[in-house]
Amino acid sequence: MEEKRSNFTGKIGFVLAAAGSAVGLGNLWRFPYLAAQHGGGIFLLVYLILSVTFGFSLMVAEIAIGRKTGLSAIGAFNKLNKKCSFIGYIAAIIPALILPYYSVIGGWVTKYLSVFISGNAKTAATDGYFEGFIGNTAQSLFFFALFIAATAIIVLLGVEKGVEKVSKIMMPILVILSIGIAAFVCISNGVQGKWEGLIYYLKPDFSHFSIMTVVSAMGQLFYSMSLAMGIMITYGSYMKKDVSLESSAHQIEFFDMGVAFLAGLIIVPSVVSYSGIEGLNKGPGLMFVTLPKVFNDMGSIAGNVIGAVFFILVLFAALTSSISLMETVVSIIQDKFHIGRKITCLIVLGGAFLLGVPSALGFGIWSGFAPLGMDILSFFDFITNSVLMPIVAILTCLVICYVIRPKDIIDEVNVSGRFKLAKLFKGMIYVAPALLLVILIFAIFEAFGITFGGLLKF
Ligand code: TRP
Repeated sequence: MEEKRSNFTGKIGFVLAAAGSAVGLGNLWRFPYLAAQHGGGIFLLVYLILSVTFGFSLMVAEIAIGRKTGLSAIGAFNKLNKKCSFIGYIAAIIPALILPYYSVIGGWVTKYLSVFISGNAKTAATDGYFEGFIGNTAQSLFFFALFIAATAIIVLLGVEKGVEKVSKIMMPILVILSIGIAAFVCISNGVQGKWEGLIYYLKPDFSHFSIMTVVSAMGQLFYSMSLAMGIMITYGSYMKKDVSLESSAHQIEFFDMGVAFLAGLIIVPSVVSYSGIEGLNKGPGLMFVTLPKVFNDMGSIAGNVIGAVFFILVLFAALTSSISLMETVVSIIQDKFHIGRKITCLIVLGGAFLLGVPSALGFGIWSGFAPLGMDILSFFDFITNSVLMPIVAILTCLVICYVIRPKDIIDEVNVSGRFKLAKLFKGMIYVAPALLLVILIFAIFEAFGITFGGLLKF
């Protein structure tokens, strides 16, 4: 049965929908802790360079593949060449692996929202509060279940459109509030003469550079912009031919980068001012350890109110992403096995819950189980971002270079206006596979504890 694909009404509709899926916990939770861990300013610089060159090119490529074929990942690769459909399958596994641990973090956000709503900013700001929470089996499972159930209910009822509408209002508020909080952090740090954190975040210091800076910046790029997992192909398949593909890609990138930058500007300097440079190595918990302290410093009433508003906005950003993740998994399974939508939703909910339990318990009773020396959540994060996504990205570039030709993509972009950065695009698509392969190898060696004795360290 041929179903006519519905289209986004125009450019703004397309950009907002794609940015809504892209902007999420990746920007607010993941970017700041990676920036803190991997060199601050130098991470920011590497991320920026990778995003305007490689990120941009891959984003254009994926949207163009989607628009050209009118299909989502599996079908699209299959249409380009029958032998390539396996790439679509690898891409399809990624959202299914992200959804469970994404929901664990979503649960953390839900918990903090409840803490601020009940006026307990002060408690949340105490040292060890976060560790106590994630180490508590009942609590971490409860909030994880709550978040993933909410996601499933929204998908099940098919009310994503309603959530999207609300989040279109919430997103701009999130940006404005983040600017306000960032200003508060910068001013209060400045007044106290604490510039160390801001300098660490904003000034590239080559002595902090290591190959892991590039590995993690690249992984973050994929994750944050929802690249190398078929998502942007799906979005592209809904894009009208007369909407400018190139400038849409620029705008999505700008949104995504902007939100991540602001989140880092709030979190990184705060960590340094509360716990010194050593505090930067907190990993995935960074946002939850620092932000309550910032809010608490705003005074007891303002702190609780602003904290609650902030976590509501973060919750919405997280929900729009988790809905889109679950929706992706549901539609892949539905297409493949031709089973009903409701049943599929329940299967995905059950599967994602089971897969998420180890991530939720990995900071508590299962902390003894540490694959590759990582907590379980970081392990899933590593497998998807540092292994599977680079593989999909390499294969996508190779398909464009040698199965179809870069010109086919450039022609597709040209349909809606001359592709200004066509040369950059072509260069990146040819160079990227080799670069990505090196990054992938380093990431894997590093995970197995084989470091290169400061190799590539300035
Ligand atoms: N980009 C999203 C974020 O920054 C996370 C994400 C990864 C995602 N893959 C996705 C969202 C697929 C929707 C669909 O939080």
